[in-house]
Amino acid sequence: MTTATVIHGYRNGSKFGFPTANLRLDTPIDIENGVYAAQVEVDNITYKGMLYVGTRPTLGLTEKTYEVHLLHFSGNLYGKTLSFEIVEFIRPEQKFESVEALVEQLNRDREAVEAILVKTL
Ligand SMILES: Cc1cc2nc3c(=O)[nH]c(=O)nc-3n(C[C@H](O)[C@H](O)[C@H](O)COP(=O)(O)O)c2cc1C
Repeated sequence: MTTATVIHGYRNGSKFGFPTANLRLDTPIDIENGVYAAQVEVDNITYKGMLYVGTRPTLGLTEKTYEVHLLHFSGNLYGKTLSFEIVEFIRPEQKFESVEALVEQLNRDREAVEAILVKTL
């Protein structure tokens, strides 16, 4: 289990239908940039999560960030502590030609996460 604090709200990215919590990890983890299926615990509830580690090249950014989108969750995570466990690597990060192309991929990632975690939750 890795614990982290949510350092930005959960509303950015909502314009794409994928709000994300930007995380500050308590202990750094050394994993390849990309997307992972993860179980995420917040306030004693476990959610399915899409964890992204990378620099957001589609947006022209370069700083390594950790973000998570929770499935079947709505609410505000700002300032909360959460913990997560990575279950499976889904894909490497990519630079998409457009935000629309990124969102199409995020929809496929969500299906992959649902399929992977259906057995575990
Ligand atoms: C599951 C997931 C996968 C992502 N994959 C990529 C990616 O492959 N390439 C990329 O440039 N950004 C990727 N992103 C980051 C998005 O660009 C970012 O979350 C979105 O633009 C909203 O950013 P903001 O919350 O900082 O506004 C991913 C985000 C999530 C949650």
